[in-house]
Order: sequence, then structure tokens, then C-alpha cells
Amino acid sequence: MKNNTILILGGYGEAGRLIAHYLLRESDVRLILAGRNLDKAQAAAAELNTTVFGQRVTAQLLDAADQTGLEKAFAQVQMVVVASSTSQYTRNVAQAALNIGIDYLDILYSTPKLEILKSLANQMKQQGLCFISDGGFHPGLPAAMVRYLAPEFERLETAHVGSVIKVNWEALRLSPATIEEFVLEMLEFQPVCFTNGEWRRDWKNRRTFDFGTVFGKQKCMAMLLEEMKSLPQNYPSLKETGFFVGGFNWFVDNILMLPSMMILSIWRGRAIRPISRLLHWGLNKYSKPPFGTVLLLEASGWKGKQFTKRQLIIEHGDGYLLTVLPVVACLLQYLDGSIRKPGLWMQGNVVEPKRFFNDLQRMGVAAKIQ
Ligand SMILES: NC(=O)c1ccc[n+]([C@@H]2O[C@H](COP(=O)([O-])OP(=O)(O)OC[C@H]3O[C@@H](n4cnc5c(N)ncnc54)[C@H](OP(=O)(O)O)[C@@H]3O)[C@@H](O)[C@H]2O)c1
Repeated sequence: MKNNTILILGGYGEAGRLIAHYLLRESDVRLILAGRNLDKAQAAAAELNTTVFGQRVTAQLLDAADQTGLEKAFAQVQMVVVASSTSQYTRNVAQAALNIGIDYLDILYSTPKLEILKSLANQMKQQGLCFISDGGFHPGLPAAMVRYLAPEFERLETAHVGSVIKVNWEALRLSPATIEEFVLEMLEFQPVCFTNGEWRRDWKNRRTFDFGTVFGKQKCMAMLLEEMKSLPQNYPSLKETGFFVGGFNWFVDNILMLPSMMILSIWRGRAIRPISRLLHWGLNKYSKPPFGTVLLLEASGWKGKQFTKRQLIIEHGDGYLLTVLPVVACLLQYLDGSIRKPGLWMQGNVVEPKRFFNDLQRMGVAAKIQ
């Protein structure tokens, strides 16, 4: 194992390249960009070595399906960052990291992934390895936002996080595996939020958030994120909490989504490829400006005898940067050892929130409390 070297699986993908770029700017770490296309990995490494000072990036041919290859590559690094659309290979990647004895961070949203990682959590603890899952902005930011604002209250009672995510899909060069994984993720969608002291699943779990002058009022649907589950235990006064997500565009939301989900639930395996192509087309064709991402936390509770309401707004014009910068801010805390501890953690729960949001602001994310 080499200290201060990180392998990014999917290192030349949209998210991976940006993680690499900002991590090089923010730290003295060395990187290996890995994926199934060596030419692309080498081109991305060469570009980073030119644009960011120093020759700190190399390229590696690596397939997440190949556990022996993963183990060989992991012997060169202290951590793997999984920024590849490879949730189906989570067991391979996690087991290879455990076998070699390196740390792990991923930015994937996947229920089966979490089940696999949880089944390996004891091994992580016993081996003293730090696994951080659900990195990025959703998952990744909502629980950290609640933890950041919670000290403003003596008794925090409600904490709802809404999000509007308007991405210029046409400008992205996503791998077909990513779109297919995205469709699978939609099948795992759980409309769950915490109401009156219990987690409740209901398609009527919706809330309207006012996202300000650009995006206005939007109805958002509850979406269960693992990181939110520990909040009621950590803040026992909390009566209501949850994460709520807005739609993509009118065509995908109102025309494509329901029939696609019905077809997928009937034919699953056979339907994934055609449905993922159809959804990708709908996202490309009907997603129009303004683009940007906003996360809005609405919290209320008591400060002494005063009932208080607070909002925390996090925004960035580029949804991909808002995915990547939280990962980098988390890795900065990991690299200096301040949050490195054995076991399985969610990014939203493991980061120290004050420094985390200060670093995000320094790197260009707008954050304000109202
Ligand atoms: N948490 C969040 O907030 C958040 C936000 C955005 C995206 N994400 C997730 O991040 C992941 C990457 O997204 P992206 O937008 O960066 O996608 P992308 O641009 O398509 O990049 C995916 C990368 O994964 C690599 N890859 C795919 N299959 C692989 C395999 N079997 N072995 C090794 N590498 C493989 C691809 O390269 P090759 O195909 O050439 O191997 C590519 O480099 C997705 O799972 C996405 O859901 C999370």
C-alpha cells in the first residue's frame, strides 16, 4: 500500500475527472485514474498533469468486474474512490479493498450496494479500515446540512431538505453503463420520510419548497437516503425529517416516467437498455435552461422559549461540481486523519460539518443561512 495515493475508479468519467482535478488542487495527493478504456484514462491523466501543477497522475486499465485485477491495482494505493457506474460490482470492489487492506469511498446511490457494504461492516472494523459510502450531494449533503444547522436550536423539531436539480444533460458524455445504472436506481426509489416519530413510505409524501427567484416553488417527492436515518436518534426532539427531490423536466416527469417504471417492473432485465435510451433521449431533448442545483433545508425548533425557523441554502450553477466538491471536502478531512476511523460511514454523517461547509464555500459553493 502506498500512502498519499488514491485510485479513482471511473477516474475519467464526468464525476471522476472533476474529483481528480479538485483533489489535486486542494492537496498533495497522487492519483491513479482507472477504467476500462486505457486511452481515455491516459488522456485524462495527461490533461491533469498539464493543467494542475506537478506530474501526480497516472492511468490504469481496470474493470470492476475483475477482482484479481482490482486487488493488484489496490496494492499501489491507500484508498479507492468509486466514481464509476459499478454498483453491481460493489462486492468485488469492497472485498478487494478488504483483502488488500485499503480504505474506500463511493459516490453511488444504490440500496443493494448499501446492503453489501453493511454485510461487510464488521470486517472493516476488525481490519481498522475506513469505508465512506454515499458521497456526493444527494446522497452526501442533506444529513450534513441538518447537522450543520442543528446547533442553532436547543430542541430541533423539523428538518426537511428539498432539492432542485436542473442538469444540462446534452453537455455530458455519460457512459451507457451510467444511464442504465441510473434507471436501476429509479426502480429502488423509496418515497419515505420521518413523520410523527416514524419512517413512513407513501407516494403522497410530498412537500412544496420555494427555491427562490430562479427556480421558484416546486413540489418535491420524499426520497429515502441512508444518511438521514440516524438523525432522529442523534436529535431525539426531531419529529419530522426527510429528503425531497424535484423532477427532471416536464416531458420526462409527466409523459415518460410512469410508463417506463411500469414496463421496467414487468420486464426488468430485458427492458433496462431500451428504457435507459428513451429516458436519456428525454433528458437530453427536454432539459432546458436555467441549469443549476439548489438544496434547501427548512428547519424549525426551540431556542429557549423562542420558536425559531431557519433555512440553509446550498447552491451551484453546475450540478456536477456540486456532486464533486463535497467529495473533495470530505476527502480533505479523511486525508489529514481527522475523520478516518474504522467501520462503515455515510459521508453526510461522518464529516465535521463546520469545516465541511467552510471548505465548500471556499471552493465556490454558495451557502447561506436565513
Ligand atoms: N452522489 C451523487 O451526488 C452523484 C451525482 C452524480 C453521479 N453520481 C454517480 O457517480 C457515478 C458516475 O457518474 P458519472 O456521471 O461520472 O458517469 P460517467 O461520466 O458515465 O462515468 C462513469 C465512469 O465509470 C467507468 N466504468 C463504468 N463501468 C466500469 C467498470 N465495469 N469498471 C471500471 N470502470 C467502469 C466509465 O468508464 P468505462 O465505461 O470506459 O469503463 C466512466 O469512467 C454513477 O454511479 C452516478 O450515479 C453520484
